[in-house]
Amino acid sequence: MDFELKASSLADAARLKADAVVVLVPDAGVVGDGPLAELVDHALRAGDLDTKAGKLLQAYRVAGVSAPRVLLAGCGDASGRKVMTAVQAAVGALRGRKVRRLALWLPEGAAAVRAAVTATAETSYAYVTTKSKPEPRELEKVSLLVAEAGAEAKAELRTARAVAAGIEFARELGNLPPNVATPTRLGEEARQMAKSHGFQCEVLGPKEVAKLGMGSFMAVAQGSQEPLRFIVLRYQGAAAGQAPVVLVGKGITFDSGGISIKPAGEMDEMKFDMSGAASVLGVFRALAESRPAINVVGLVPACENLPDGRAFKPGDVVTSMSGQTIEVLNTDAEGRLILCDALTYAARFKPRAVIDIATLTGACVVALGGVRSGLFASDDALAAALQQAGDAAFDPCWRMPLDDEYGEGLKTNFADMANVAGRQAGAVTAAKFLQRFVGDFPWAHLDIAGTAWKGGAAKGSTGRPVPLLLQYLHGLQAAPAKADKAAKADKPATAVRRRPAR
Ligand code: BES
Ligand code: MN
Ligand code: ZN
Repeated sequence: MDFELKASSLADAARLKADAVVVLVPDAGVVGDGPLAELVDHALRAGDLDTKAGKLLQAYRVAGVSAPRVLLAGCGDASGRKVMTAVQAAVGALRGRKVRRLALWLPEGAAAVRAAVTATAETSYAYVTTKSKPEPRELEKVSLLVAEAGAEAKAELRTARAVAAGIEFARELGNLPPNVATPTRLGEEARQMAKSHGFQCEVLGPKEVAKLGMGSFMAVAQGSQEPLRFIVLRYQGAAAGQAPVVLVGKGITFDSGGISIKPAGEMDEMKFDMSGAASVLGVFRALAESRPAINVVGLVPACENLPDGRAFKPGDVVTSMSGQTIEVLNTDAEGRLILCDALTYAARFKPRAVIDIATLTGACVVALGGVRSGLFASDDALAAALQQAGDAAFDPCWRMPLDDEYGEGLKTNFADMANVAGRQAGAVTAAKFLQRFVGDFPWAHLDIAGTAWKGGAAKGSTGRPVPLLLQYLHGLQAAPAKADKAAKADKPATAVRRRPAR
């Protein structure tokens, strides 16, 4: 889908050749003249148009308007959130109507451009890959009509396009069936992306991973016929000496639970257990376009978790890359077992921050549902930056505690720790487990078990938390990392703006 930005009045919008024109109408009303302004005016006076975000009024073949379909869409206070809701409703209503060229008349402000692009891309995405008769993609060109197409709006468009591409990449990978999106396929996707966009990429297999001593990761993979992969992707947008942000994504391409097998109901949804990995690859897809002046490393441990004669089992003790031993009390707590070795590996990059992203616990779904991802962090500045990034990108998260008392349940008589604690606070005890593998760098963990996909009729990947991560990463450009790891505080861009000296 192609987006363009056009400086246009409401009168110009009426003359634009398109299959549909959508006019966003804020509470404050629209400014302009011509047939579209008149239509808005009449509809508002008659009480037929509600300016609440998401409310629509549709018209057809309006005199003086070139586009046959006209949609008036309330957008409330015209905030980014409300513009998103309005565009989601409008684009959703036009789905299946063969609209190829769409004109979107936006209220003022650069925030509207970003929101409109994100919402249009999100709403028009359709999974087609494994359907024998896929419906063709409809939207080809979207013209964003704004009062002024200034530098700020243009920059917003560039960023929003990149973010939309990243979200879509993550969603598509997440939605692929588990017999297609295997660890090998994830490795190929990474390699291919590196080749097209000039990233460095290494994809390690079982032999190399054994050499690294990732005994915990290997234990999870050993019950599957699919060979594991460990993906290392590097984006260099700043000087080579600048400390990178390391993103670690859980890449369980199918989680049956292993010997501690899950119940059959909805087990298919465990194909989404590689959503953390998909979000890391999605971020890189976006970085390829947005090219911020920072360095980013992506790490993805990828494997299946299956029961088998060779599978690991409850009671097994494994030795992680860090040297710490782990008693496996539940093979379904496998995410932490692959992430712990990746966290140990992350230290070699002397990172300014490490963020792991994982569909880690059902307990996090119980705690926060599908609205906010769980955020755990050892570093207050990093936590604040991520929380703010999530709010700004409409991809919110919520900070959870890491008190040491929560880790006490991981004690066992037979190893340095067990891989599960009791039933209580399961999302926190999982994070406490991971924390034992965190080196001397600021660390955050995003539990996206509730936010990475939707179940039910709308079943499918959401692409979260790609928007949050990109908002955070793009914000770092304004707050350059020091070359050494003394750069502890990853403050958001707003925190570094200083009042001019008097
Ligand atoms: N991938 C699951 C977490 C999950 C469960 C995500 C449901 C989304 C929905 C993870 O590997 C898992 O199975 N976790 C267990 C941990 C438990 C055994 C301590 C869980 O949450 O039940
Ligand atoms: Mn599991
Ligand atoms: Zn899992």
